[in-house]
Amino acid sequence: MIGADVAHAAALLRRGNVVAIPTETVYGLAGNALNEASVTQIFTVKQRPSFDPLIVHIHNLSQLNDLVAEFPEQAKKLADCFWPGPLTLILPKKEIIPDLVTSGLPFVGIRMPRHPLTRELLQKLPFPLAAPSANPFTYVSPTTAQHVEDQLGDKIPYILDGGACEVGLESTIVSFAESKPKVLRFGGISKERIEEIIGPVDEQISSSNPVAPGQMDKHYATSKKLQIVSTARELMDCHGCYTIGYGEGDFEYNLSPTSNLEEMARNVFAALRLADESDATLISVCLAPEIGLGRAINDRLRRASR
Ligand code: TXA
Ligand code: MG
Repeated sequence: MIGADVAHAAALLRRGNVVAIPTETVYGLAGNALNEASVTQIFTVKQRPSFDPLIVHIHNLSQLNDLVAEFPEQAKKLADCFWPGPLTLILPKKEIIPDLVTSGLPFVGIRMPRHPLTRELLQKLPFPLAAPSANPFTYVSPTTAQHVEDQLGDKIPYILDGGACEVGLESTIVSFAESKPKVLRFGGISKERIEEIIGPVDEQISSSNPVAPGQMDKHYATSKKLQIVSTARELMDCHGCYTIGYGEGDFEYNLSPTSNLEEMARNVFAALRLADESDATLISVCLAPEIGLGRAINDRLRRASR
Protein backbone atom coordinates (compact mmCIF):
# COMPACT_ATOMS: atom_id res chain seq x y z
CA MET A 1 0.00 0.00 0.00
CA ILE A 2 1.20 3.51 -0.82
CA GLY A 3 0.42 6.39 1.55
CA ALA A 4 1.84 9.34 3.43
CA ASP A 5 0.97 8.23 6.98
CA VAL A 6 4.16 8.60 9.00
CA ALA A 7 2.56 7.29 12.20
CA HIS A 8 1.46 4.13 10.41
CA ALA A 9 4.96 3.60 8.97
CA ALA A 10 6.44 4.10 12.45
CA ALA A 11 4.02 1.59 13.99
CA LEU A 12 4.95 -1.04 11.40
CA LEU A 13 8.66 -0.47 11.94
CA ARG A 14 8.27 -0.71 15.72
CA ARG A 15 6.64 -4.09 15.21
CA GLY A 16 9.69 -5.25 13.23
CA ASN A 17 8.24 -4.89 9.74
CA VAL A 18 10.03 -3.37 6.76
CA VAL A 19 8.68 -0.20 5.10
CA ALA A 20 9.77 1.66 1.97
CA ILE A 21 10.78 5.23 2.76
CA PRO A 22 11.48 8.31 0.65
CA THR A 23 14.88 9.94 0.87
CA GLU A 24 16.31 12.80 -1.18
CA THR A 25 18.53 10.30 -3.05
CA VAL A 26 16.41 7.22 -3.81
CA TYR A 27 13.68 5.27 -1.99
CA GLY A 28 14.98 2.96 0.73
CA LEU A 29 13.72 -0.33 2.11
CA ALA A 30 13.88 0.33 5.84
CA GLY A 31 13.91 -1.80 8.95
CA ASN A 32 15.07 -1.51 12.56
CA ALA A 33 18.88 -1.47 12.21
CA LEU A 34 19.33 -2.93 15.69
CA ASN A 35 16.96 -5.86 15.16
CA GLU A 36 18.35 -8.87 13.30
CA ALA A 37 14.92 -10.18 12.32
CA SER A 38 14.03 -6.88 10.64
CA VAL A 39 17.39 -6.70 8.88
CA THR A 40 16.97 -10.27 7.65
CA GLN A 41 13.64 -9.29 6.09
CA ILE A 42 15.36 -6.50 4.16
CA PHE A 43 17.83 -8.95 2.65
CA THR A 44 15.05 -11.41 1.82
CA VAL A 45 12.69 -8.90 0.18
CA LYS A 46 15.51 -7.45 -1.93
CA GLN A 47 17.01 -10.86 -2.65
CA ARG A 48 20.26 -9.26 -1.67
CA PRO A 49 23.25 -11.44 -0.80
CA SER A 50 24.24 -11.14 2.85
CA PHE A 51 27.80 -10.07 1.95
CA ASP A 52 26.52 -6.66 0.79
CA PRO A 53 26.32 -4.35 3.84
CA LEU A 54 23.52 -1.86 4.61
CA ILE A 55 23.59 1.85 5.41
CA VAL A 56 22.22 2.95 8.80
CA HIS A 57 20.08 6.12 8.79
CA ILE A 58 19.94 8.56 11.69
CA HIS A 59 18.30 11.97 12.25
CA ASN A 60 20.45 13.41 14.98
CA LEU A 61 24.22 13.62 15.54
CA SER A 62 23.80 12.57 19.18
CA GLN A 63 22.74 9.10 17.98
CA LEU A 64 26.28 8.57 16.66
CA ASN A 65 27.64 8.06 20.18
CA ASP A 66 25.76 4.80 20.52
CA LEU A 67 26.59 3.52 17.06
CA VAL A 68 30.21 4.32 16.25
CA ALA A 69 33.43 3.89 18.19
CA GLU A 70 35.21 6.82 16.56
CA PHE A 71 34.23 9.98 14.72
CA PRO A 72 37.41 11.35 13.09
CA GLU A 73 37.79 15.11 12.73
CA GLN A 74 37.55 15.04 8.92
CA ALA A 75 34.41 12.92 9.04
CA LYS A 76 32.95 15.44 11.44
CA LYS A 77 33.69 18.28 9.05
CA LEU A 78 31.90 16.48 6.24
CA ALA A 79 28.92 15.74 8.48
CA ASP A 80 28.76 19.41 9.52
CA CYS A 81 28.71 20.47 5.89
CA PHE A 82 26.55 17.87 4.19
CA TRP A 83 24.24 16.29 6.80
CA PRO A 84 21.37 16.02 6.52
CA GLY A 85 22.05 15.10 2.90
CA PRO A 86 23.33 12.58 0.34
CA LEU A 87 26.53 11.56 2.12
CA THR A 88 27.35 8.23 3.82
CA LEU A 89 30.32 7.96 6.17
CA ILE A 90 31.97 4.60 6.84
CA LEU A 91 33.06 4.56 10.50
CA PRO A 92 34.21 1.99 13.09
CA LYS A 93 31.09 0.36 14.47
CA LYS A 94 30.04 -0.37 18.01
CA GLU A 95 28.82 -3.79 19.05
CA ILE A 96 25.17 -2.73 19.20
CA ILE A 97 25.03 -2.87 15.40
CA PRO A 98 24.39 -6.47 14.31
CA ASP A 99 27.11 -8.02 12.14
CA LEU A 100 24.38 -8.78 9.63
CA VAL A 101 24.05 -5.04 8.90
CA THR A 102 27.75 -4.65 8.07
CA SER A 103 28.25 -8.12 6.54
CA GLY A 104 30.71 -8.86 9.30
CA LEU A 105 32.85 -5.76 8.65
CA PRO A 106 34.03 -3.82 11.71
CA PHE A 107 32.80 -0.61 9.99
CA VAL A 108 29.32 0.75 9.45
CA GLY A 109 27.91 3.14 6.85
CA ILE A 110 25.97 6.00 8.48
CA ARG A 111 23.84 8.62 6.78
CA MET A 112 21.51 11.39 7.89
CA PRO A 113 18.92 11.81 5.12
CA ARG A 114 17.22 15.17 4.59
CA HIS A 115 13.80 14.19 3.24
CA PRO A 116 11.31 15.81 5.67
CA LEU A 117 8.96 12.82 5.84
CA THR A 118 11.75 10.39 6.66
CA ARG A 119 13.21 12.80 9.20
CA GLU A 120 9.80 12.95 10.85
CA LEU A 121 9.66 9.15 10.80
CA LEU A 122 13.14 8.75 12.31
CA GLN A 123 12.22 11.17 15.09
CA LYS A 124 9.30 8.96 16.07
CA LEU A 125 11.50 5.87 16.42
CA PRO A 126 13.79 4.80 19.27
CA PHE A 127 16.16 3.10 16.81
CA PRO A 128 18.00 3.98 13.56
CA LEU A 129 16.89 2.51 10.22
CA ALA A 130 18.93 0.21 8.05
CA ALA A 131 17.95 0.89 4.45
CA PRO A 132 19.34 -0.17 1.10
CA SER A 133 17.75 1.18 -2.07
CA ALA A 134 14.25 -0.31 -2.43
CA ASN A 135 14.85 -2.28 -5.63
CA PRO A 136 15.44 -5.95 -6.28
CA PHE A 137 19.18 -6.65 -6.06
CA THR A 138 21.14 -5.38 -9.12
CA TYR A 139 18.13 -3.53 -10.65
CA VAL A 140 17.80 0.25 -11.14
CA SER A 141 17.11 2.20 -7.90
CA PRO A 142 13.58 3.62 -7.36
CA THR A 143 13.02 7.38 -7.35
CA THR A 144 9.22 7.36 -6.88
CA ALA A 145 6.84 5.41 -4.64
CA GLN A 146 5.31 3.88 -7.77
CA HIS A 147 8.71 2.48 -8.80
CA VAL A 148 8.82 0.65 -5.46
CA GLU A 149 5.22 -0.52 -5.80
CA ASP A 150 5.94 -1.91 -9.28
CA GLN A 151 8.64 -4.24 -8.04
CA LEU A 152 8.19 -4.84 -4.32
CA GLY A 153 4.55 -3.85 -3.76
CA ASP A 154 3.38 -7.39 -3.01
CA LYS A 155 6.26 -8.08 -0.61
CA ILE A 156 6.03 -5.15 1.81
CA PRO A 157 3.18 -3.79 3.93
CA TYR A 158 3.66 -0.06 3.28
CA ILE A 159 5.38 2.45 1.02
CA LEU A 160 5.70 5.92 2.53
CA ASP A 161 5.17 8.31 -0.38
CA GLY A 162 7.34 11.41 -0.29
CA GLY A 163 7.09 12.31 -3.99
CA ALA A 164 9.85 12.10 -6.57
CA CYS A 165 13.39 12.09 -5.15
CA GLU A 166 15.09 15.45 -5.34
CA VAL A 167 18.65 14.20 -5.98
CA GLY A 168 17.87 10.98 -7.85
CA LEU A 169 21.24 9.25 -7.32
CA GLU A 170 22.40 7.41 -4.20
CA SER A 171 24.55 9.03 -1.54
CA THR A 172 28.27 9.53 -1.97
CA ILE A 173 30.15 7.08 0.27
CA VAL A 174 33.33 8.23 2.02
CA SER A 175 35.22 5.65 4.05
CA PHE A 176 37.21 6.41 7.19
CA ALA A 177 38.33 2.80 7.54
CA GLU A 178 41.91 3.79 6.75
CA SER A 179 44.00 6.78 7.76
CA LYS A 180 43.24 8.67 4.53
CA PRO A 181 39.58 9.18 3.60
CA LYS A 182 38.48 7.33 0.49
CA VAL A 183 35.48 7.72 -1.79
CA LEU A 184 33.88 4.30 -2.34
CA ARG A 185 30.88 5.44 -4.41
CA PHE A 186 30.21 8.58 -6.40
CA GLY A 187 26.78 10.00 -5.59
CA GLY A 188 24.75 13.06 -4.74
CA ILE A 189 27.73 15.08 -3.49
CA SER A 190 30.62 15.46 -5.90
CA LYS A 191 34.17 14.51 -4.99
CA GLU A 192 35.14 18.10 -5.77
CA ARG A 193 32.82 19.40 -3.03
CA ILE A 194 34.21 16.89 -0.55
CA GLU A 195 37.78 17.89 -1.33
CA GLU A 196 36.87 21.55 -0.83
CA ILE A 197 36.12 20.68 2.79
CA ILE A 198 38.78 18.12 3.76
CA GLY A 199 41.40 18.28 1.00
CA PRO A 200 42.52 15.42 -1.26
CA VAL A 201 40.81 12.05 -0.80
CA ASP A 202 41.54 8.67 -2.38
CA GLU A 203 39.00 6.86 -4.48
CA GLN A 204 38.31 3.19 -4.94
CA ILE A 205 35.16 2.93 -6.96
CA SER A 206 35.44 -0.51 -8.38
CA SER A 207 37.90 -3.34 -7.99
CA SER A 208 38.08 -7.11 -8.12
CA ASN A 209 38.48 -7.25 -4.37
CA PRO A 210 36.25 -4.42 -3.23
CA VAL A 211 36.10 -3.01 0.27
CA ALA A 212 32.41 -2.40 -0.32
CA PRO A 213 31.16 -5.67 -1.75
CA GLY A 214 28.21 -3.74 -3.16
CA GLN A 215 30.55 -2.16 -5.65
CA MET A 216 30.03 -5.25 -7.75
CA ASP A 217 30.11 -4.42 -11.40
CA LYS A 218 26.69 -5.74 -12.32
CA HIS A 219 24.45 -3.16 -10.70
CA TYR A 220 21.77 -0.66 -11.61
CA ALA A 221 21.07 -2.89 -14.60
CA THR A 222 18.06 -2.73 -16.89
CA SER A 223 16.58 -5.98 -18.23
CA LYS A 224 17.25 -4.81 -21.77
CA LYS A 225 20.70 -4.37 -23.18
CA LEU A 226 22.04 -0.85 -22.73
CA GLN A 227 24.77 0.58 -24.94
CA ILE A 228 26.81 3.70 -24.39
CA VAL A 229 27.61 6.04 -27.26
CA SER A 230 29.79 9.11 -27.23
CA THR A 231 27.84 11.70 -29.22
CA ALA A 232 24.26 12.92 -29.56
CA ARG A 233 24.58 12.34 -33.31
CA GLU A 234 25.29 8.62 -32.78
CA LEU A 235 22.27 8.46 -30.48
CA MET A 236 19.94 9.95 -33.06
CA ASP A 237 21.29 7.55 -35.71
CA CYS A 238 20.39 4.54 -33.59
CA HIS A 239 17.12 3.43 -35.16
CA GLY A 240 14.83 1.22 -33.11
CA CYS A 241 16.73 2.16 -29.95
CA TYR A 242 15.24 3.87 -26.92
CA THR A 243 17.56 6.87 -26.84
CA ILE A 244 18.47 8.76 -23.67
CA GLY A 245 20.35 12.00 -24.23
CA TYR A 246 20.63 15.55 -22.97
CA GLY A 247 21.09 19.03 -24.39
CA GLU A 248 19.92 19.80 -27.91
CA GLY A 249 18.67 16.88 -29.91
CA ASP A 250 15.72 14.63 -30.51
CA PHE A 251 15.76 11.74 -28.02
CA GLU A 252 13.12 9.44 -26.56
CA TYR A 253 14.12 10.86 -23.19
CA ASN A 254 15.96 14.11 -22.70
CA LEU A 255 17.57 14.08 -19.23
CA SER A 256 18.05 17.85 -19.31
CA PRO A 257 17.56 20.08 -22.34
CA THR A 258 19.93 22.61 -20.74
CA SER A 259 22.55 19.92 -19.88
CA ASN A 260 22.13 20.66 -16.18
CA LEU A 261 23.87 17.90 -14.22
CA GLU A 262 21.51 18.05 -11.24
CA GLU A 263 18.51 17.70 -13.51
CA MET A 264 20.19 14.82 -15.34
CA ALA A 265 20.91 13.02 -12.05
CA ARG A 266 17.30 13.49 -10.94
CA ASN A 267 15.95 11.91 -14.13
CA VAL A 268 18.41 9.17 -15.01
CA PHE A 269 16.87 6.22 -13.11
CA ALA A 270 13.32 7.08 -14.21
CA ALA A 271 14.59 7.24 -17.80
CA LEU A 272 16.18 3.78 -17.52
CA ARG A 273 12.92 2.35 -16.21
CA LEU A 274 10.87 3.90 -19.03
CA ALA A 275 13.39 2.58 -21.54
CA ASP A 276 13.05 -0.90 -20.05
CA GLU A 277 9.26 -0.73 -20.33
CA SER A 278 9.33 0.52 -23.92
CA ASP A 279 8.99 -1.58 -27.08
CA ALA A 280 12.60 -0.97 -28.10
CA THR A 281 14.99 -3.91 -27.82
CA LEU A 282 18.09 -1.79 -27.22
CA ILE A 283 18.65 1.21 -24.94
CA SER A 284 21.20 3.72 -26.13
CA VAL A 285 22.57 6.47 -23.92
CA CYS A 286 25.16 9.23 -24.08
CA LEU A 287 27.51 9.74 -21.11
CA ALA A 288 27.52 12.98 -19.11
CA PRO A 289 30.60 15.21 -18.87
CA GLU A 290 33.12 13.63 -16.42
CA ILE A 291 32.85 16.38 -13.81
CA GLY A 292 30.93 16.80 -10.55
CA LEU A 293 27.68 14.84 -10.54
CA GLY A 294 28.50 13.71 -14.08
CA ARG A 295 30.91 11.14 -12.65
CA ALA A 296 28.15 9.62 -10.50
CA ILE A 297 25.73 9.55 -13.44
CA ASN A 298 28.33 7.88 -15.67
CA ASP A 299 29.21 5.33 -12.99
CA ARG A 300 25.56 4.18 -12.92
CA LEU A 301 25.30 4.14 -16.72
CA ARG A 302 28.51 2.14 -17.16
CA ARG A 303 27.42 -0.45 -14.62
CA ALA A 304 24.00 -0.68 -16.25
CA SER A 305 25.69 -1.37 -19.59
CA ARG A 306 27.67 -4.40 -18.37
O1 TXA B 1 21.44 7.13 -0.99
C1 TXA B 1 21.63 6.05 -0.44
O2 TXA B 1 22.71 5.75 0.09
C2 TXA B 1 20.46 5.05 -0.41
C3 TXA B 1 19.35 5.63 0.48
C4 TXA B 1 18.21 4.67 0.67
O3 TXA B 1 19.91 6.03 1.70
N1 TXA B 1 20.89 3.78 0.04
C5 TXA B 1 21.66 2.95 -0.74
O4 TXA B 1 21.91 1.73 -0.19
O5 TXA B 1 22.07 3.26 -1.83
P1 TXA B 1 22.44 0.48 -1.00
O6 TXA B 1 22.39 -0.63 -0.03
O7 TXA B 1 21.70 0.32 -2.25
O8 TXA B 1 23.94 0.82 -1.27
C6 TXA B 1 24.80 0.92 -0.17
C7 TXA B 1 26.21 0.72 -0.54
C8 TXA B 1 26.48 -0.73 -0.88
O9 TXA B 1 27.13 -0.78 -2.13
C9 TXA B 1 27.40 -1.21 0.22
O10 TXA B 1 28.34 -2.10 -0.22
C10 TXA B 1 28.01 0.08 0.76
O11 TXA B 1 27.01 1.02 0.60
N2 TXA B 1 28.27 -0.07 2.18
C11 TXA B 1 27.39 -0.14 3.18
N3 TXA B 1 27.99 -0.35 4.35
C12 TXA B 1 29.31 -0.43 4.09
C13 TXA B 1 30.47 -0.67 4.90
N4 TXA B 1 30.38 -0.88 6.19
N5 TXA B 1 31.67 -0.68 4.27
C14 TXA B 1 31.76 -0.48 2.95
N6 TXA B 1 30.70 -0.26 2.15
C15 TXA B 1 29.49 -0.25 2.69
MG1 MG C 1 21.33 -0.09 -4.19
